[in-house]
Amino acid sequence: MYHGMNPSSGDPFLEKQQQQSPSPRRLFAVVLWLQLILCFGPAQITGGFDDLHACADPGVPEHGYKTPSAGVFFESAVVRLHCQEGYRLKGSSKKICVRHFNGSLSWKPSDKPVCLQEDCLVPHVEDAEVHNKTYRTGDKLIISCHEGFQIRYPDLDNMVSICQDDGMWDNLPICQGCLRPLVLPHSYINISEFESSFPVGTVVYYQCFPGYKLKGTKFLECMYNLIWSHSSPRCLDVEGKTAYLVLECFLFLISSLVSKILKGLCSVRVPPKGTDFLI
Ligand SMILES: *[C@@H]1O[C@H](CO)[C@@H](O)[C@H](O)[C@H]1NC(C)=O
Ligand SMILES: *[C@@H]1O[C@H](CO)[C@@H](O)[C@H](O)[C@H]1NC(C)=O
Ligand SMILES: *[C@@H]1O[C@H](CO)[C@@H](O)[C@H](O)[C@H]1NC(C)=O
Repeated sequence: MYHGMNPSSGDPFLEKQQQQSPSPRRLFAVVLWLQLILCFGPAQITGGFDDLHACADPGVPEHGYKTPSAGVFFESAVVRLHCQEGYRLKGSSKKICVRHFNGSLSWKPSDKPVCLQEDCLVPHVEDAEVHNKTYRTGDKLIISCHEGFQIRYPDLDNMVSICQDDGMWDNLPICQGCLRPLVLPHSYINISEFESSFPVGTVVYYQCFPGYKLKGTKFLECMYNLIWSHSSPRCLDVEGKTAYLVLECFLFLISSLVSKILKGLCSVRVPPKGTDFLI
């Protein structure tokens, strides 16, 4: 029966060996498996013993990269951090994976360097000419507004814009003209609807749609104080106007009549005989 169930061998001696051998083989497999985990594990497995075998990936600063770019960082591994062109590194560029007394590994120095923009980019300011093409930290912006536009700084007490060390401009000015003038209903003007700012001296011509009559000034000019010379004209309905006037007149008559009646009632307690309330 027993022999029949094990067709691989009929030899009792061999059979004995086969029964004993799995135990050391299994042990070997377990050891090998453990070794594999210890060798390759730190990169994949997260957990407490990670930092005993390798340093965690130190990462890269924004706008930067590191060499070597990837891999497992064992004890004494060195990484160097760099910044892309136009940026400079602030912090330590070289890190070493070191072992502490407690056995764990970590990067030294442990700071997190950053990549800062080297220059301020030439800003885009509407209706202006920006002069110098490169600006370093601390430089003043040299700018001139197009003719008819006036420079305005957000901070009125500090009429200068400086390139900051983060590559940003402080107190960036704008070049201002007159804002779009008001266009009341039934009227139109001869300036592009895409423009929003107009230089000093701009003349705007107002016209009414057919059937309407302009009331006010036809021409508005952008003045030096960036205000239009007149308020926007109105376009009145030519036909409707008569009707409106009649209504206005009627309302006036009614209101004066009412006020007279009230006046009469209040000031004269006993109205003398013969007094009527007609106008
Ligand atoms: C080992 O020591 C380092 C620095 O001395 C410390 O940052 C780290 O947390 C320690 N690790 C453990 C597991 O205690
Ligand atoms: C502007 O650029 C010119 C040359 O391109 C340079 O001589 C000058 O110093 C610059 N001005 C400022 C304020 O940086
Ligand atoms: C609008 O028309 C007036 C009169 O024709 C002209 O003087 C003015 O320059 C025009 N404005 C624009 C922005 O074209």
